[in-house]
Amino acid sequence: MTLVSSKPLASTDMKPLVWQSHETVVASATTLGILRRFPRLMREAVKLAWAANRRDLLLAVSLNLLAGVCMVSGLVSGTVVLSRLLSQAMTWESLQAASGPLVMVCTLAVLRSSLLALASWSQARLRPQVERIVAARLAMAGTRLPLADFDEPELYDFMRLAKDRGLHEAPEMVQRMVDVAAAVIGLAAAGSVLAATHPVLLPLVLIASVPDGWAAARAGLMRYRLMFQLTASRRRKWILHELMCGRASALEVRAYMMREFLLEEYDKISAQEERLELRLSRREFVVGLQGVSARGLCAGVVYGALAILVGTGMVGVGAAATAVIAVQVSNSSLRNLVGSATSCFQSGLYFEDLVSFLATATARSRRDERPGPADFETISADGIGFAYPGTDSRVIHDVSVRVRKGEMIALVGENGSGKSTLAKLLAGFYEVTEGAVRWDGDDIQGVRREDLWRHVAVIAQDYTQWPLSARHNIVMGNRPDEDGLASAALASGADSVIAGLPEGYDTLLDRRFKGGQELSKGQWQRVAAARAFYRDASLLICDEPTAAMDPAAENALLTAIREFAEDRAVILITHRLEAVRHCDRAYVLAHGRVAESGTHDDLLSLGGLYYESYMLQARRYGRMPGLDPV
Ligand SMILES: Nc1ncnc2c1ncn2[C@@H]1O[C@H](COP(=O)(O)OP(=O)(O)O)[C@@H](O)[C@H]1O
Ligand SMILES: [Mg+2]
Repeated sequence: MTLVSSKPLASTDMKPLVWQSHETVVASATTLGILRRFPRLMREAVKLAWAANRRDLLLAVSLNLLAGVCMVSGLVSGTVVLSRLLSQAMTWESLQAASGPLVMVCTLAVLRSSLLALASWSQARLRPQVERIVAARLAMAGTRLPLADFDEPELYDFMRLAKDRGLHEAPEMVQRMVDVAAAVIGLAAAGSVLAATHPVLLPLVLIASVPDGWAAARAGLMRYRLMFQLTASRRRKWILHELMCGRASALEVRAYMMREFLLEEYDKISAQEERLELRLSRREFVVGLQGVSARGLCAGVVYGALAILVGTGMVGVGAAATAVIAVQVSNSSLRNLVGSATSCFQSGLYFEDLVSFLATATARSRRDERPGPADFETISADGIGFAYPGTDSRVIHDVSVRVRKGEMIALVGENGSGKSTLAKLLAGFYEVTEGAVRWDGDDIQGVRREDLWRHVAVIAQDYTQWPLSARHNIVMGNRPDEDGLASAALASGADSVIAGLPEGYDTLLDRRFKGGQELSKGQWQRVAAARAFYRDASLLICDEPTAAMDPAAENALLTAIREFAEDRAVILITHRLEAVRHCDRAYVLAHGRVAESGTHDDLLSLGGLYYESYMLQARRYGRMPGLDPV
């Protein structure tokens, strides 16, 4: 999506984003439906935490459990203390009698706090470990996906959503689940004391907690809905921020004086967000107020019941006092439970995206398959057709081409005629929809991709400017072989570029980092060519490899490619028809079909498309065809 366009851009110009629609789907899903999927999500979260560090997980839960036991014992001892102090007039003896249990109460309180602190420590330790494992799984899944999947906008956005939110929410989900467990344990502890005091107290306390629970759940749901509403606008803001402050658009923001327009746009979205946030905080306040008022009423009922129980002698004064404490404790545990459950629920929605993305990616990653060839002599396409994933229209129709080792073939044709696509099909980056690509007569369908790509080197049309050193931009993560590196750099002309860098091969080629250097497009293209030469593969694909080069560099590179082709198969995609003269054969593509094919001379004598383009170029450059060296 390009935001910098010549016509003024209103915020409505931005297309609804795919993940906005995705989230609308999630947001519109029924609470019940989500709740039904929850047990599975919780299982996944436990599995994740278990894989991250089972010791910390077990510690976090069992320490909370022990803290719960301390709480029960503390409350029981508290009852003893209070009954000894309150059941008769305060005397030295009664104080002495209460001192033992009192020490017990204090010890248990300290023990409980220490256990809870240790439990939080385990929980905190779990967080980065879960994050690391999720990040690794995401990266593994993302790099394993077939290239074609990156052409499916839905899947691509799904991956980004899983990464952007899932990565953050997975540890959150684990954290909240332990919180839920801790709150349940606390509640069970306080509840058991209440139930032991008098059976009617427990249901009463539960009823008294309803208003609070209701208010917290409502507020949580409202915040969650707003979060969904804001996701798309937050992303818009992020894009705008990138445009305003990013490096790629810095020049045009200034040249086209886009600053004010972008700022205005940014502020418009911020104002909209602010309005929604303010409205939400007002509604949260109202709901909170309702909850608090209802809680007051319910507390009155509970304490009234307690008073009746004491008055009728059904419950002792000491036990009643403990019950008051237990009511407080269970109330706060309940509030924690509702709070953690709501957060767990919210995280769960994003966590679900992560879980299902990982499942989808695993299902889609190729589990091939037949081993590929150790090498090849000939690669051919036989009547192939191809449509990009997620599109209906074929961009390649009934194409047959071949290339043999020791040959250099050219693919020519106007922009969009299918040259790059055809080259990618021959190398097995995409799978054909019709016909077959054969390596030595063997259909490559179902062949392990790595076995094919091992033999392929590409000077891609949209090569990557890796933010790495010049050396690693050529050796690409392999152990550098200095001789190979030097000859690849020499052949591509990258050697003179690197010689001009302050730290030679060790110079970082990214200006965003301190000490990083910027290369021009043509210089980058030489580095990209060196990368392909260094790979030393049997099939070399050169996709418009000289598009940004000066004429001298272009000539030098084309000569080097020709030399390289001596014992390899080379596919050269170019608009410089002079270069075709030195190819064994050229295929002229038009609208995804092979319109003409043959040697340079054959094609000229046909007097068709190739001839016309060639004459046009010859006139443009003011040269007579056939007189240029390559
Ligand atoms: N990833 C893609 N998804 C969908 N369509 C694509 C994709 N890449 C290219 N196309 C379409 O396929 C056609 C051929 O593209 P391409 O092979 O890149 O042409 P060329 O290299 O000859 O300029 C074009 O119409 C282009 O719009
Ligand atoms: Mg292309």
